[in-house]
Amino acid sequence: MKIWKDFGEYILNLCEKRPINIAEVGVGKFTMVYDFLNEQEGVNIVKIDITPADETVIRDDITNPNPELYRDLDIIYSIRPPSEIQPHILKLKEFNDAKIIIKPLFNEDLNTGSKKMKLKNYRKSSFYIL
Ligand SMILES: C[S@@+](CC[C@H](N)C(=O)[O-])C[C@H]1O[C@@H](n2cnc3c(N)ncnc32)[C@H](O)[C@@H]1O
Repeated sequence: MKIWKDFGEYILNLCEKRPINIAEVGVGKFTMVYDFLNEQEGVNIVKIDITPADETVIRDDITNPNPELYRDLDIIYSIRPPSEIQPHILKLKEFNDAKIIIKPLFNEDLNTGSKKMKLKNYRKSSFYIL
């Protein structure tokens, strides 16, 4: 679907650095964006969830994260994360200098407290970035 390809392309082009280290958190069973990024050259990407759908997903509870998983990341993104974990996604920044991208279900406001993410429209896709 075009919105997911556009979303993946935006992430891919966000940093020129290669290799680029990316994590998708709260991936669930929806791996379309992960799969697109994983096929690209110079991309190291992991998928993380508290309830891994299979053995290719790393188990971690981002409300009590394992810092090792988040060091050296350049980009962390999450698709349709529940509002209660949204502030914890931003807190992962304490382990790295990563850009954080959240794609909500609709374009609803996020639960990120005093940290205001910026709404970005890129082609058919829209999401928040900090
Ligand atoms: C609404 S689903 C979205 C799944 C997928 N990204 C999608 O868009 O279809 C939220 C996901 O976040 C995961 N999740 C919830 N709490 C979490 C936590 N504390 N740490 C990591 N993942 C969590 C759930 O297991 C679930 O897979």
